[in-house]
Amino acid sequence: MMLIEPQASPGFVETPGIKALVDRALIYLEVGLAVNLSGPSGVGKTTLALHVAGQLGRPVVFISGDEQFRSGDMMGGLFGYRRRRVVDNFVHSVLKTEDDLMERWVDSRLTMACKYGFTLVYDEFTRSRPEANNALLTVLEEGMVVMPSMRGGEGYVRVDPRFRAIFTSNPLEYSGTHRPPDALRDRLVTLHLEYYDEETEISITVARSGLDWDSAKWIVRLVTLGRAAKGLSAAVSTRGCIAIARAMEARGMNPDPNDQLLYAVSRDVLTSGCTRMTGKEEAVVGEVWRKSFCSE
Ligand SMILES: Nc1ncnc2c1ncn2[C@@H]1O[C@H](COP(=O)(O)OP(=O)(O)O)[C@@H](O)[C@H]1O
Ligand SMILES: [Mg+2]
Repeated sequence: MMLIEPQASPGFVETPGIKALVDRALIYLEVGLAVNLSGPSGVGKTTLALHVAGQLGRPVVFISGDEQFRSGDMMGGLFGYRRRRVVDNFVHSVLKTEDDLMERWVDSRLTMACKYGFTLVYDEFTRSRPEANNALLTVLEEGMVVMPSMRGGEGYVRVDPRFRAIFTSNPLEYSGTHRPPDALRDRLVTLHLEYYDEETEISITVARSGLDWDSAKWIVRLVTLGRAAKGLSAAVSTRGCIAIARAMEARGMNPDPNDQLLYAVSRDVLTSGCTRMTGKEEAVVGEVWRKSFCSE
């Protein structure tokens, strides 16, 4: 089981804008509500969810949404096959192995978190099919985990009052996301994340690459222009800023309009979300590149 001990997240950047989000998420969680951090890929949802979870001071259980989850999987499953070695003491040379094919029920991480009052971070929960997430309804609403009959024993587990849940999700228009059941969405307070403000993005880029502030500032300008430009299908996220920054740091590059390698790296990152590279994309990148060196 992936259990994360609460601790200050190393390298976590907390500017006033981020702190305001963290504080709001903590209010909802403190009064017992579940929080859903929604936003495009690379805005910082997972990082924020883990940081907020860490603030609650309870062990953190992390699960990721998965298309393959079936409805029973959320609570646990049957796992089998135990091998026993029996040393026969009467005849010393005999070593018997016994295969035991009895399947045993193993509680899932969700069930464990509910039982012991841990903090659940359910990353990208809309990647799981809606039926698989149904179990969460009773958890959030009734404070109970209803267990499938194959578990044996009691049919349900009471949710410890210290249990808290933080979800992350991409907006619905992203491919591979499922619309969560309305009843579930209704039980989450959703915070919509947008790309962070300029200062925050520069701070994160510096923190994750070691690059100097002014170079990071140029990268954020380039990427922001790229987001605004029509013709580059998918927006470049903070993750894209970090990618350019790491390349610059690794090769000792500076923001220089004549640096062919830096141009190529910028183009690669800016067009990573495009389905193909044509003269049209190349022209848009060229324009964004040129503007990034002009002072406002
Ligand atoms: N507050 C932050 N402090 C430091 N790094 C951050 C912060 N938010 C995001 N990042 C970095 O930005 C990148 C994208 O963040 P991530 O949480 O993975 O985004 P998402 O889950 O929305 O796709 C990661 O490399 C992450 O380390
Ligand atoms: Mg993520």
